[in-house]
Amino acid sequence: MYSEKVMDHFQNPRNVGEIDGASGVGTVGNAKCGDIMRMYLDIDENHIIRDVKFKTFGCGAAVATSSMATELVKGKTIEEALKVTNKAVMEALDGLPPVKVHCSLLAEEAIHAALWDYAEKNGIKIEGLEKPKSDIHEDEEEEEEAY
Ligand code: FES
Repeated sequence: MYSEKVMDHFQNPRNVGEIDGASGVGTVGNAKCGDIMRMYLDIDENHIIRDVKFKTFGCGAAVATSSMATELVKGKTIEEALKVTNKAVMEALDGLPPVKVHCSLLAEEAIHAALWDYAEKNGIKIEGLEKPKSDIHEDEEEEEEAY
């Protein structure tokens, strides 16, 4: 059901942890399953992602996709990191079962949220980056209003 790469990144996730004084931090949640992901980025003056760490209360697929996503954005410029989509992450992992595709979105959204935080802190605009939907609490409120 899961590829060897998924199993490897699930059992030995890369870049787990926190970064003190991170340049940008993004926290996102999946309203459907309640899983949460937090991404920390350390970005240098040339806009290169020097370091990245993540923490999650998430399923195995969320752990594996986040682990791979951190590997893909490390050492990249913020513009290159923006292009690391959940599709690219899934391809790098040799695929995910269809019911787990939504889990891969957490990593992409968390990276975008952390980049947004970085841009806001530094008063810059990152071309092509959209404001994260909201933080997880506002999301929950929206969900409630929707029903
Ligand atoms: Fe929630 Fe996978 S089931 S992120």
